Amino acid sequence: MAEAIDFSHLVDSVKGLSEKQLTQHFTLYQGYVKKLNEIEDKLKTEDKAKANFSFGEFSELMRRRSVAFNGTHLHEAYFENLEPVGEPQQIKDLLNDAFGSVDKWKEDMKASAVSTPGWVLLTWDKTEEKLKNWILFEHNIGLPVHQNIVLALDCWEHAFMIDYGIDKPTYVKTFLENINWDVVDKRLKEFMK
Ligand SMILES: [Fe+2]
Repeated sequence: MAEAIDFSHLVDSVKGLSEKQLTQHFTLYQGYVKKLNEIEDKLKTEDKAKANFSFGEFSELMRRRSVAFNGTHLHEAYFENLEPVGEPQQIKDLLNDAFGSVDKWKEDMKASAVSTPGWVLLTWDKTEEKLKNWILFEHNIGLPVHQNIVLALDCWEHAFMIDYGIDKPTYVKTFLENINWDVVDKRLKEFMK
């Protein structure tokens, strides 16, 4: 059973995102956790003999399960790395290697953000042992295998519309000023063991 994490402390620490914007976003995240639990519960009792490509209760639940799962865990990754804490440490050299410089990586983040209605993820690609940016058009579509999520940027309109309207680039700039680099470093250390 998944349990929603309380991220309400971010209201006091994140700069440039209002209480209303953040609170609405927390509520949306809690909805994914609820749906994930509902799907997992129903899967326990659905008749697997009725599974079907066109339509079947079990099949529909299986098709939507990864939406609720990633909807839950991508939001947790985003809120965990959303807070102005620390400076880039270990990651600095890795960003230099992968993108040329930290500023060039930021340019890549901005360009990636306007290329998707959904997520931008900075990952540790285990196949090349290198940092990479990816874009996702849906919570559960577009993340290649063998990737560990180092940083998650929620670019869905619900993440910024209240404060920024359709001005996604300014929201991304705000996000880049609110990165919890301690969390990022901790994740990297874990992935690079
Ligand atoms: Fe979101």
